[in-house]
Amino acid sequence: MFKALGTLGVVLLTVAAVVMVGLGFLMGPDHPLPWIMLIVVVAIPFVHNKMAANRYLVWKDEYSVGIEEMDNDHKKLLNLINQLQTAVHYYTGREFEEKALEELVDYTKTHFNKEEKLLEDNGYADLDAHKLLHKQFIDKVNQFLEQYKQDSELTINDTLEFLKDWLIKHINGTDKEYGKVLNDKGIH
Ligand SMILES: [Fe+2]
Ligand SMILES: [Fe+2]
Repeated sequence: MFKALGTLGVVLLTVAAVVMVGLGFLMGPDHPLPWIMLIVVVAIPFVHNKMAANRYLVWKDEYSVGIEEMDNDHKKLLNLINQLQTAVHYYTGREFEEKALEELVDYTKTHFNKEEKLLEDNGYADLDAHKLLHKQFIDKVNQFLEQYKQDSELTINDTLEFLKDWLIKHINGTDKEYGKVLNDKGIH
């Protein structure tokens, strides 16, 4: 439960509650400060939920590479990242977290292979550079997975942030480059 609320949220709630009760006893119910603190305590879960919602990735049309199959893969990757985000944030258990991580990494590899084959089949000039970026990403993910085995609690948030950041930047940057080239060849 504490993990779901977040460490900062728990600390703030505890501090606010203690201050509110303390001031209430000291100043009496006519003093505004205990009531202000009460509002703060009530507001914290709403703020926390809003912050939690912002952690989830939402597909935007601007991410489209103009090739339906690749867009569908990218959408699935975003969903798998969100699934991992849920497993981490609501701490559904180590087993579910590992399964979500494994599913995301496996599907990323599947997608990379499919994407590289599409680029190769269409004689994409920057194929080698694109493949290298994919390889560097997988190498980095493997490093995170090794660290995760040593200490999952310490590593999982960094791993998740890296996956989110890299994949969105890659989809919305490097992948869009091949999108334009292949679109010009009539591939959609
Ligand atoms: Fe891609
Ligand atoms: Fe790619």
